[in-house]
Amino acid sequence: MAQFLLITDLDHTLVGDSEALARLNQHLSQHRDEYGTILVYSTGRSLTLYQQLLTNQDLLEPDYLVLSVGTVIYPHGSTQPDTAWSEYLSNGWNRDQVLAIASHFSHLVPQPPSEQTDFKVSYFLDGSIANEVIPRLKTALTERGLDIQFVYSSNKDLDILPKKGNKGAAATFLQQKLEMSGDRTVVCGDSGNDVSMFQQAQAKGIIVGNAKPELREWYSTQTSTNTYLAKASCAGGIIEGLQYFGFW
Ligand code: GLC
Ligand code: MG
Repeated sequence: MAQFLLITDLDHTLVGDSEALARLNQHLSQHRDEYGTILVYSTGRSLTLYQQLLTNQDLLEPDYLVLSVGTVIYPHGSTQPDTAWSEYLSNGWNRDQVLAIASHFSHLVPQPPSEQTDFKVSYFLDGSIANEVIPRLKTALTERGLDIQFVYSSNKDLDILPKKGNKGAAATFLQQKLEMSGDRTVVCGDSGNDVSMFQQAQAKGIIVGNAKPELREWYSTQTSTNTYLAKASCAGGIIEGLQYFGFW
């Protein structure tokens, strides 16, 4: 056993099965004490919604907190986001223009103000019309030269982000900062906003057994053995994957 870097999504990945979460927490805190293993939460939630989750979930303190779909990174204990990351994302991003163009699309229902951040514009978009609306919106935004990407999750959440920022890019940024190689990094997730972690990060991947169709679809196109699809759900799936990769 040795140190590794665990980067995990929260909703329906780490969180969702409290018995398995308690077992995983115990293993990880022991691993941290013995080997200096590093724990990162990477969530779509803003700081407001993350703090809300802490009121009803027993979570270990992470070493880094990646919020708002990879667009905000907080080192442990800091009240200030990592400025190098924000500066990197700000180059080429024009939030006001994104909002102005998106406002013409009546099917887009803005998410609450807490979920709108400097580098993330988020809407609810019904799954039945997403396939029709997203390409039109994409054309409208890219015609103006805007460097953006869409992340659609759970058949309802549409995030518009700077092209350079998502959970995968944030994972790579942390790996470089911490000098952690791909074979000592594990990423875990269940839905669309996690795809970039499996796709971009040089890492072992664990897809939990309760993963959403959009992530399963991505997985079905892969041939690499670096990503493991667990049978168990949520933290139980993470435990299963850590065992599979020899980190348990
Ligand atoms: C979280 C965020 C939301 C985002 C979704 C998917 O639920 O609160 O803003 O759209 O994750 O990334
Ligand atoms: Mg999730």
